[in-house]
Amino acid sequence: MNNTMKKSVKKCNFLLFCLIALVKTGCVKPIDNIITVIGTGYVGLVTGAGFASLGNQVICVDINTEKIKMLQKKQIPFFEPGLQELVHTVATTGHLSFTDNVGDAITKANILVIAVGTPSRADGHADLSALFKVLDTIICNMNNYKIIVVKSTVPITTNKKIEQYMLEKGIDHSLFAIVSNPEFLREGSAVYDFLNPDRVVIGTNNQAAAQCIADIYKPLKNGTVPLIITDTTSAELIKYASNAFLATKISFINEIANLCDHVDADIVTVAKGMGLDVRINPYFLNPGPGFGGSCFPKDSLELCATALAYNVPLDIVQGSLVVNNNQQELAVKKVKELMGPDLKGKTVCILGLSFKANTDDIRYSPAIKTIELLQKELVTIQAYDPVASSHMSVLFPDVTYAASIDDAVCNADVIIILTEWDVFKKIDWQKVRSQVRQPYLIDMRNIVDPVICMDTGFVYQGIGRGSYKNNNYVYNARPSCN
Ligand SMILES: NC(=O)c1ccc[n+]([C@@H]2O[C@H](COP(=O)([O-])OP(=O)(O)OC[C@H]3O[C@@H](n4cnc5c(N)ncnc54)[C@H](O)[C@@H]3O)[C@@H](O)[C@H]2O)c1
Repeated sequence: MNNTMKKSVKKCNFLLFCLIALVKTGCVKPIDNIITVIGTGYVGLVTGAGFASLGNQVICVDINTEKIKMLQKKQIPFFEPGLQELVHTVATTGHLSFTDNVGDAITKANILVIAVGTPSRADGHADLSALFKVLDTIICNMNNYKIIVVKSTVPITTNKKIEQYMLEKGIDHSLFAIVSNPEFLREGSAVYDFLNPDRVVIGTNNQAAAQCIADIYKPLKNGTVPLIITDTTSAELIKYASNAFLATKISFINEIANLCDHVDADIVTVAKGMGLDVRINPYFLNPGPGFGGSCFPKDSLELCATALAYNVPLDIVQGSLVVNNNQQELAVKKVKELMGPDLKGKTVCILGLSFKANTDDIRYSPAIKTIELLQKELVTIQAYDPVASSHMSVLFPDVTYAASIDDAVCNADVIIILTEWDVFKKIDWQKVRSQVRQPYLIDMRNIVDPVICMDTGFVYQGIGRGSYKNNNYVYNARPSCN
């Protein structure tokens, strides 16, 4: 675990300690709710453990029995800093339990939080089949009044359709309330984000249900979290518009970075100069190999598809997706620019496979497109990632997954950094220079100091670091490290 992660875990543990102390001293009253969280992925598990840490009784349920078996042994089925500690702590207080019996978990609860996946279909719309499967199970197990909280990211008007669906299936209006409660946590800092949200959005037409869900979040940040209580459609749109805006901001800075490459300007300075303007702010102004993950690509696609259905084309969001597709091809273009068009037989080292640092999630990761393009060039790929290699090996079994950075760079003709893991920021380039076959480095995250790197003899290409281009280092082949 690196220092940033350790700090984030410490911070989470401290917050958790304070919360549990508040509950024990009676300052925060546990609410008499039983909450069942359906789906124990990145969102569901963090939410379930988070609600339990606020003094609620929580049951986490999933149809994936392997996941549940691990969780019952307090093992976390994916990598998320601080989550192991959170789950361990709340599970020992007896506030959190795990089961694969969805029906039973539904009957025991008065609040049901749906956090199943809503991946993209081929037509760009979100696949809601898992969500409606859950609804069918709820309908079969309606033994008392239930507040159904939709935390999964669902297309605009879905919550209205859910309500209609329940009524059509014969569930009386007096027996349920639907609440849209979109989630904004970021993988990699999900526990911190849950405990420190920028806002809580509650969309419903039922005032009592809104109050009940608002009360659950109340202990967070001493009750200072801005609360937005609205209709379900506005709540849904807040989530989509937020993700599409952030995705657009990334595509925007990526385009400016690409221009920097051509006009010999430096994006790091340009972004700093932009970010100091409070109207812009410095966040999401780091160029990279294109956005990935389970949210920005799929949510932008869904928003465009929905808007188009209403005959309201969203050109900016659509444009950000086009820019992103091109951006995900940039690493290989840069390799060819440096080394020539024929890469056959070369050894390419990829550092970083997850879509961003501090997660093992590879959904829509730029590494996928990069590997696909490189494999067409008949190169040998040696990849290293602190936690995501096993996931990537399912998609690309032909890649060599190194156990260390040293193994990954050994005899490489070019190194591409794709993920901004802290360990890559501390690489000793002098040492690596003696391990590679050719000293070419493409830093798609701008985490390497170009001057230090070039001083060791590397030919360096960052992203938007035009001022450092053409360092004119004479390339000399080095003996292999074997
Ligand atoms: N991952 C994020 O960073 C993030 C952030 C905000 C919102 N979201 C949204 O939250 C939702 C969940 O995302 P995720 O990344 O946690 O997904 P995930 O794929 O990690 O987890 C979904 C879980 O739901 C389970 N599941 C599927 N069908 C089920 C059923 N019928 N009953 C019980 N469990 C079932 C799956 O087995 C899986 O464990 C999505 O809509 C996503 O868009 C995700």
